[in-house]
Amino acid sequence: MKDPNLEEQSTLFPIDTEFETSKEETISDGVELVSFRELVPEIDDTGYLTHAIFAYPAKFIPQIVRYAINTYTQEADWIVDPFAGSGTVGVEAYLCKRNAVLLDLNLLLNHIIPLKIYSGKDRLNEADLCKLLDGMQKSHHQFTPAWSNVTYWYAPEILEVLSRYWGFINNTDGGVYSAIIKSALLKVNKRFSYTEDRTPKLARSKRKLKAIKELLKENWQEQLDEMLYSLSLKTLKSLNDFVMHTQQHQNEVAPEIHWQGGVDSSYATVPRECDALITSPPYLQAQEYIRSTKMDLFWLGHTEEEIQELSRLEIPYRKADRVIQTETLDRVRDRLTRDDLHKRLDSYFCHTINALENSMNQLKPNAAACIFVGNPRIDGITVELWRILAEYFTEHGWTFEKVYEDRIKTRKLFGARKNKNPDGMKSEFLLILRRDATYQPSAQQCGSVLRGRGDPLPAPKTPLNNDAS
Ligand SMILES: C[S@@+](CC[C@H](N)C(=O)[O-])C[C@H]1O[C@@H](n2cnc3c(N)ncnc32)[C@H](O)[C@@H]1O
Repeated sequence: MKDPNLEEQSTLFPIDTEFETSKEETISDGVELVSFRELVPEIDDTGYLTHAIFAYPAKFIPQIVRYAINTYTQEADWIVDPFAGSGTVGVEAYLCKRNAVLLDLNLLLNHIIPLKIYSGKDRLNEADLCKLLDGMQKSHHQFTPAWSNVTYWYAPEILEVLSRYWGFINNTDGGVYSAIIKSALLKVNKRFSYTEDRTPKLARSKRKLKAIKELLKENWQEQLDEMLYSLSLKTLKSLNDFVMHTQQHQNEVAPEIHWQGGVDSSYATVPRECDALITSPPYLQAQEYIRSTKMDLFWLGHTEEEIQELSRLEIPYRKADRVIQTETLDRVRDRLTRDDLHKRLDSYFCHTINALENSMNQLKPNAAACIFVGNPRIDGITVELWRILAEYFTEHGWTFEKVYEDRIKTRKLFGARKNKNPDGMKSEFLLILRRDATYQPSAQQCGSVLRGRGDPLPAPKTPLNNDAS
């Protein structure tokens, strides 16, 4: 049975939509019409094992990743994802005995991966978890996030309880049990705040203010504890299922998963050669991953400065430092009249392509790059992302192999809310490019990606050595 406290895994471009183009049109375009859910029947629940532990906007559905892994990689291969988000590629890679390098601007990745790719060998104990949860009730510690307007988001009595619970968990060395409780607390934090928890963005709503006011007249603390216990136990079960599932690795060398959140992939160097890229770049229009996850980041101890810096580097909200030109993209530009949208388009393609190129330059000859995108609209104009990327990369040592089109039927953004289709996106596309066997990236092409393009984030304090094997 589904837990109503857990959001369904949202799709990459999560909107309700209806079909638009005919099958004949897309096939003549070299597009293969598919349903990834049908192609991968062995995954019948998008939130299976550890996939649903953390809410994250615009996650991949694991079926797409599994399909790409099965079709374009082999056991022990290395996969890179420069927009790793909540680590769907990492989890699937681990389950399929592939290694992975995961990068993302969002620091949440560093908190998510150790839990979602739990490498413990033994089943976790419910009694130990409950002991820790019970201990929280008597906590005298306090932790308040370094968030100047935290009081704007919470009723004072709720903030007091949450601060005590976080105070306790931050002062307890409960290892994986503490991490489980933190993941549950993140969901509780949101549910018991004034933010609208049915949308990913941080936004106070009248509906939510009213709901909290009503809640405070009831047994709210009991409800809060109930949610916390039930989510923690559910996560413990997911981790135990993960342990059971991965026991097959026990007599083998476990896959290595390396990750680094807080990395600007537009400028980062991927630390090793890889066999495939599987990724879903950020959305062209206002997804704002950092803003959407800001509440989590604050509670996890990140500061206002760190979060502001990340927001500044988010694609497509930063200045472009080169103009990408392709036939299809130039056509969009010609039709676009608004200056601000020109800037956004330029920023999007400059930094998305920089990030893809940084990773793709580290792929071996014949390697596949699997890039999952939608066809968003900007000012009413459809932007065929897959085509633009295909046009760009075929000029830069890549061969267009194929593109899969998965038509969206009904999707939810977050929770139960029905979402409109503001950008007219009807389908999602998995573009497959193949590295030319003879192609050698020139020193200039490799180097130029890392030079003279704004202010990169400071180098990560630790190298990518946090392997989850
Ligand atoms: C579509 S989401 C990826 C979701 C991921 N596939 C998953 O399943 O969770 C795109 C990601 O791009 C990241 N992003 C945005 N700008 C970035 C940048 N400059 N460098 C690295 N990552 C960036 C966002 O933080 C977001 O996690």
